[in-house]
Amino acid sequence: MSKKSSVYWILTLAFLMMVSVLTGCGSDKKPAAPAAAADIKIGANWELTGGQATFGQSSLNGAKLALKEINAAGGVIGKKITLVVADNKSEPSESTNAITKLITQDKVVAVLGAVTSSNTLAASPVAHANKVPFLSNTATNPRVTVENGKVKEFAFRACFIDPFQGTVMANFAAKSLKVKTAAVYVDQSSDYAKGLAQVFEESFIKAGGKIVAKEAYLQKDKDFKATLTKIKASNPETIFIPGYYEEVGLIVKQARELSYTGPMIGGDGWDSPKLVEIAGKEALKNTFFSNHYAADDKDPSVVKFVETYKKEYNQTPDALAALGYDATLMIVDAIKRANSAEPQKIRDALAQTKNLKVVSGVITLDANHNPVKSAVVIEVKDGKLVFKEKIDP
Ligand code: PHE
Repeated sequence: MSKKSSVYWILTLAFLMMVSVLTGCGSDKKPAAPAAAADIKIGANWELTGGQATFGQSSLNGAKLALKEINAAGGVIGKKITLVVADNKSEPSESTNAITKLITQDKVVAVLGAVTSSNTLAASPVAHANKVPFLSNTATNPRVTVENGKVKEFAFRACFIDPFQGTVMANFAAKSLKVKTAAVYVDQSSDYAKGLAQVFEESFIKAGGKIVAKEAYLQKDKDFKATLTKIKASNPETIFIPGYYEEVGLIVKQARELSYTGPMIGGDGWDSPKLVEIAGKEALKNTFFSNHYAADDKDPSVVKFVETYKKEYNQTPDALAALGYDATLMIVDAIKRANSAEPQKIRDALAQTKNLKVVSGVITLDANHNPVKSAVVIEVKDGKLVFKEKIDP
């Protein structure tokens, strides 16, 4: 080889090496730490800050507790599970960003979350484009798993849906509270609240009741008094307020300040330790909401969960925590049955979830990827959430 041609070869080789470093070919793509390389990575897209922050924080606590127990018992299919957490800041656009990062950057094989229906709906197209399954612990709007009559292939949930929850509360109003008239005050910025309001109205009318007023508010509103004055003037025996604790707390408080004394009722979105903080114990007398689970339920699996959770976090688990725990069990169960951590195989196994005993009940997913589960009605008594009744589907 002449001197000239060997220089040529050396330069060519150097160039090729540079290209391979820049594009990442030739290496095994990521220089992941060897210890973590064998782990299964699951993502969490939850509301950790913003207007629904207690929802995401509780969900995350529940998921972490489940994974701690599962990993301590040896993990699943011989591997440990790592949770990669992303905060969607309680905003739909941030939820799209969060799931994009989890799937494309962190390469998770399945995603837990989001909590709310709007934030879950915003994450769904990204999961579908990348063929990675997601499982919302708590999003109850029917469109989360079915849109225009078509089941969304990669969308799953661990909770009941709003057509059930809305009917539960309409019947509770008509039969248990024995009221004949109701006003509806709905969070217009939430897919969940709008859907739930509609079901409640239809079911309440079916049960013989009359809707005497219908008003709307937006998330981050602070002053509800003008609208509440209008609502009060229509003399409703109860006010149904589908929404989340930040606004609901203020609405309940301001309604009492306007001397509305009737029962106020709502859905699962009321479930937060912040509700009592915002509204105050007194204002919350005579209020009721539907939920997925009650911490004072005597079911042995609930008792055991509440005990371990309290030991871990020094607080009583709300429904979000229970369902964060349950959703994690569902994904791990699917990985186990699939005997694989490939997203497509996890998806297929998730769709076959059957008779899985979890804290909030026994989960069998129907053809629409929805579990059929009972609901509870909670009464807020002395600032405490007290189990009132359980309603089976
Ligand atoms: N069901 C609510 C939604 O779909 C979320 C939620 C569930 C909030 C449970 C609190 C408790 O938006």
